[in-house]
Amino acid sequence: MHVDRAIPSTAIDPGGLKIISLANQKGGMGKTTVTMQLAAALSRRHRVLVVDVDPQQSTVWWAENAERHLPFDFAGRQQPSVLSRLSLLAGEYDFVIVDTPGSLEDTRILEVVVDASDFVIVPLAPEPLAVEPTMRTIQRLIEPRGTRFAVLLNRIDPRVHGQLDTWKELLDVTLGVPRLDAYLRQYKAQADAPVLGRLVTTVRDNRSTQGAIWDVTLLGLEVTEQLSPQLQGAW
Ligand SMILES: Nc1ncnc2c1ncn2[C@@H]1O[C@H](COP(=O)(O)OP(=O)(O)O)[C@@H](O)[C@H]1O
Ligand SMILES: [Mg+2]
Repeated sequence: MHVDRAIPSTAIDPGGLKIISLANQKGGMGKTTVTMQLAAALSRRHRVLVVDVDPQQSTVWWAENAERHLPFDFAGRQQPSVLSRLSLLAGEYDFVIVDTPGSLEDTRILEVVVDASDFVIVPLAPEPLAVEPTMRTIQRLIEPRGTRFAVLLNRIDPRVHGQLDTWKELLDVTLGVPRLDAYLRQYKAQADAPVLGRLVTTVRDNRSTQGAIWDVTLLGLEVTEQLSPQLQGAW
């Protein structure tokens, strides 16, 4: 584990590095949560770097609470300009995951991130008021740049009957946007994770954590399958 990883300015040998970013101009949808937890899941089998270009630096707080027990390398407090240099890390990492700000003022940062990404994950919680700003992010920011993307349903409440199906149908049929099959349910273990500095790879697997661990593991498998099929056997 390497905290405060410096991004180099000269190239190492090329590899199959994939850059995944989390984006949604609506805040509170799970960008930071998915960045940290997906990075942890992928780090079980792959070399992972997390980069944070969000001026709010939520991942840095999380990393500090983890007392640096992170299973992946971490580069917080980065200027968006580092993104154009991330391909220089090919050969050192299999995945770079980028957390981004969630506000309309930071559009320029998001444009740079989306341009640099191989895949954008757009987390969406099942809140009616989140749909419009999420679609705006997709239509104004992501689709015009031609970067591959998919929506990830997050904070699905297992106790609300029919919620998952309703939101899948909204995305697949009504809105017609790509969606990951994996989704994350709402769990206290997820909500508590940042303050406790916990990750799915560092919590004890028990009745209160196993659902969250399972959800994030499936997300990691789907992302690997979609982006780096040659790495799949590594699981
Ligand atoms: N699956 C989940 N279950 C429970 N709480 C969640 C889940 N995903 C996110 N949260 C909580 O929702 C809030 C917003 O999530 P966060 O990842 O910070 O969103 P963003 O980075 O998009 O603003 C945080 O308090 C976080 O702990
Ligand atoms: Mg955040």
